[in-house]
Amino acid sequence: MALILGFESSCDETAASVVKDGRFVLSSAISSQIAKHAPYGGVIPELAAREHLTALRRITDEALSGAGVTPADIDCVAVTNGPGLVPALLCGLNFAKGFASAHKKPIIGINHFLGHIYGVFLDAEEDVFARKDLFPMAALVVSGGHTALVIIDSNGAVKLVGTTLDDAAGEAFDKAAKMLDLGYPGGPIIEKAAKLGDAKKYHFPRSLTGSAGRALDPANRFNFSFSGVKTAMLYHVHNLCDELKTERLEGEPLYDTLASYQEAIVDVLCSKAVDAAKFHGAKSLILCGGVACNGALRERFEAVAPKNIKVFLAPRKYCTDNAAMIAGVAYRYYQAGKFSDLSMDAYARFSGDLQIPME
Ligand code: KG4
Ligand code: ZN
Repeated sequence: MALILGFESSCDETAASVVKDGRFVLSSAISSQIAKHAPYGGVIPELAAREHLTALRRITDEALSGAGVTPADIDCVAVTNGPGLVPALLCGLNFAKGFASAHKKPIIGINHFLGHIYGVFLDAEEDVFARKDLFPMAALVVSGGHTALVIIDSNGAVKLVGTTLDDAAGEAFDKAAKMLDLGYPGGPIIEKAAKLGDAKKYHFPRSLTGSAGRALDPANRFNFSFSGVKTAMLYHVHNLCDELKTERLEGEPLYDTLASYQEAIVDVLCSKAVDAAKFHGAKSLILCGGVACNGALRERFEAVAPKNIKVFLAPRKYCTDNAAMIAGVAYRYYQAGKFSDLSMDAYARFSGDLQIPME
């Protein structure tokens, strides 16, 4: 039996969690900073760092007491060390290092993408990740900071096969909501309003899909770009406001706008994920990250995946940032005796090429 205490602070959630044997979540404490960043319509890294510093101790105590354990019961510490906002990452990383060294526990640095992917396997009745029939595994990691396609083969080799060239999909939701003065974070607000609208009413661009009449550069087949759809939204709002002689979109025109905008994003995410899964001969396809909370995306993802590819949707509570997913994936490293050391640093970007121990 192994108890791992995980920490996560890569963006605007301070989280700690105790997970038993890689999948039994005994506690998952999360302190969200949404209210602090809301006035800015996005996450301010230095503000995030300050908030992490004040929340880490409390959230750790909450995770330990929630699991009914003391620091002495913990076998290993796991912590997100990238990718993410470096000032924010450093808070969790240094706190975790301090905890590990004070309590003489080993420490493992965990890649945030792997954490999101592993969220799918938490609370499961069996060790799903050990099932060889699910590999190669394809995953779409889609959040406020990232949009990436990842392939994991049966030896645990992780490859980044696609990423966004500019904005993340979550950012496209957040910035559109900001433009329309709807609040932050934009994803859940847009999803709710989009339910009332007609997704076919307006056309928004699907960048890097070859749909604009120009052939797609093969190098960008699995890459994403969401800055175009954001700009298209800006012009659309200006033009429609002029047309309707109003300062602000409301009611049906607003709902139709948001439904059509969401549709464009969902379309691109699903078509690229399925294309990558097929191209890489994936046996399973995972949807995870904050944007994976979106009901329209979840429905479409399941609907368009080929029947011979097993689809896993991250449970909503493990879609947005949490530390259970970090402690979960760390178990595979723990079992293999692959520990990090206290000199590990934080990193902003995931360049690809990682190895998950698969024994
Ligand atoms: O994974 P996450 O908590 O943090 C990052 O690592 O970025 O994801 C947060 C992002 C935000 O951009 C938020 O707007 C988006 O996830 N999001 C959604 C929904 N819920 C959260 N996007 C679309 N639909 C949702 N229901
Ligand atoms: Zn995340």
